[in-house]
Amino acid sequence: MLEIKNLCAEIDGKPILNGLNLSMARGEVHAIMGPNGAGKSTLAKVLAGHPAYNVTCGEVWFKGQDLLDMEPEERARLGLFMSFQYPLEIAGVTNRQFFEAALQALGKEASITQEAEALEISPAFLDRNLNEGFSGGEKKKNEILQMALFKPDLAILDETDSGLDIDAMRIVAKGVNALRTSDNALLIITHYQRLLDYIKPDFVHVLAGGKIEKTGGPELALWLEEKGYA
Ligand SMILES: Nc1ncnc2c1ncn2[C@@H]1O[C@H](COP(=O)(O)OP(=O)(O)OP(=O)(O)O)[C@@H](O)[C@H]1O
Ligand SMILES: [Mg+2]
Repeated sequence: MLEIKNLCAEIDGKPILNGLNLSMARGEVHAIMGPNGAGKSTLAKVLAGHPAYNVTCGEVWFKGQDLLDMEPEERARLGLFMSFQYPLEIAGVTNRQFFEAALQALGKEASITQEAEALEISPAFLDRNLNEGFSGGEKKKNEILQMALFKPDLAILDETDSGLDIDAMRIVAKGVNALRTSDNALLIITHYQRLLDYIKPDFVHVLAGGKIEKTGGPELALWLEEKGYA
């Protein structure tokens, strides 16, 4: 479903990704760990099509199509979803309006109220401005609500667990697990092995030095927790 070959990317002339390879099949969950500043969010943003990043070499194929050749909204329509490490606040647009517009743009239908309920998000939240004044954990839950609504083929979750309390983490993990099928795939960026107790990855990768430096199974996350990256 996703094939990343020798990907290099830079921002403001500073190289961040440096020949990164990664391939993911349908039904798989991959976790990416790695030190701060290693380029994990950069990878996510390059895949989503963030305009600030300049791809200088490599290829990315998603569902057999050349992802790097597509506009961000085409990537979303093809089934790519990314949850941000730092979700944006937008004044003057309610959560519900944003979700409705996004669903329409994607040509999808979903019950916003019902999906919110499943994630234990109160209906009052839907009528507040998008992410405005939301606590850190509330923003993260709101990102997962988007994932539940859009039902992407590939979801990239960038540190969705950071800042979640224990109950919220369980709810989020339950929500994410409920969305897993043999047809879709999940790329989870996280610093903590704890999340991976709830959402079992098939593969764990370490991103360091601008590439995937190491790959293993769930045991790699446990090993890293004990030994660190050094
Ligand atoms: N506009 C910019 N100008 C210069 N450097 C930048 C810019 N944006 C990002 N970087 C650098 O790119 C590097 C990779 O950042 P990135 O956010 O991808 O790291 P990360 O692996 O997600 O880290 P974390 O675990 O802290 O979230 C960092 O050193 C960061 O300072
Ligand atoms: Mg990051």
